[in-house]
Amino acid sequence: MVKIGIVGISGYSGGKLLDWLLKHHRVRVTYISANNTQGPATTIWPHLKGKTDLICQTYAEKTAVASADIFFLAVPHTVAMTIVPGLLKAGKKVIDLSGDYRLDSAQEYKKYYKAVHADKPNLATAVYGLPELYREQIKKARLISNPGCYPTAGLLALLPIASAHTALIESIAIDAKSGVSGAGKKAVLALSFCETNENFKAYKVLNHQHMPEIELYLAKAAGKKLTVDFVPHLLPVNCGILETIYVRFKSKLTLDKIHQIYKRFYKTEPFVRVLDQGGQVELKHVVSTNYCDISLAVSNNGKLLVVTSAIDNLIKGASGQAIQNMNLMCGFKETEGLL
Ligand SMILES: NC(=O)c1ccc[n+]([C@@H]2O[C@H](COP(=O)([O-])OP(=O)(O)OC[C@H]3O[C@@H](n4cnc5c(N)ncnc54)[C@H](OP(=O)(O)O)[C@@H]3O)[C@@H](O)[C@H]2O)c1
Repeated sequence: MVKIGIVGISGYSGGKLLDWLLKHHRVRVTYISANNTQGPATTIWPHLKGKTDLICQTYAEKTAVASADIFFLAVPHTVAMTIVPGLLKAGKKVIDLSGDYRLDSAQEYKKYYKAVHADKPNLATAVYGLPELYREQIKKARLISNPGCYPTAGLLALLPIASAHTALIESIAIDAKSGVSGAGKKAVLALSFCETNENFKAYKVLNHQHMPEIELYLAKAAGKKLTVDFVPHLLPVNCGILETIYVRFKSKLTLDKIHQIYKRFYKTEPFVRVLDQGGQVELKHVVSTNYCDISLAVSNNGKLLVVTSAIDNLIKGASGQAIQNMNLMCGFKETEGLL
């Protein structure tokens, strides 16, 4: 049994990690912590009554190191990079759900996260935890930077076409919508019920920190920089992300050909489902699962591809993908505990 520590247990992603890891047959959760929240896990998450006697404590490195082998950090960015160095130094493996290790330069980090990076050596060695792109590297990694929720849906939607027809792509625009849990559990007026319910709005237009993350890993896969115009919206649902992505081509491609490219690219992937032609993804079909669903349509002149992708932001966009990465790092079946 691999011993697991979760930091940030009282948050939405940490709570989902606990839910899923308590049911995982190959690991045992032995350490849970948060910042201000303390006490029995069942007081923080009453639906777990009868399933665990774990006690949440304020994070303390010494206790953490003595308690577990692999740590999930489900804490805000800037906090994760203060915890990672100590855990790695103690020989532990870490899966960080925050944005602290996703961009490959401290300058870009400062530009988009408005903070100075405090752990540049580990920034250089972190492996981006998108199994569909970096499976082999993840298996050997000690520090995983778990992808952002929007980038997971965006990259999975774009990787097949960007890898196969980079030179043909003229422009990419992502119209993304996320449920309110995407912003975490903290109390913020703009995220309160009356402000979000029956409402719909864009935010951080062309300026969201996930835009450079999508561009970075798309460029690595395509071998060329592709500019991505990214506009996120706040959708009045609890969970789920749906992205409508417009890819304009310099010359035409048929839907048959594109559908074939996507089917082939994801043929052996356990968590990406390319729908049949004519199908459209829905949040309802992916919420509470680790799946990413993808649907495709092409304009009559063959020069516009619309890819639509949907995930659960807290699962394939955070905790589920983190467990998928843990399975790979531990040599378990990749789908263990996730189906
Ligand atoms: N929500 C999503 O859809 C999503 C998707 C992908 C990635 N992420 C990323 O995952 C991370 C967690 O997100 P979330 O939405 O689950 O956040 P959240 O609901 O706001 O929870 C944050 C957690 O971090 C803990 N925490 C804060 N400061 C800490 C510190 N100094 N030391 C130890 N624990 C600390 C909090 O503890 P207290 O309750 O005690 O303050 C809480 O348990 C973030 O970096 C986020 O960007 C989130």
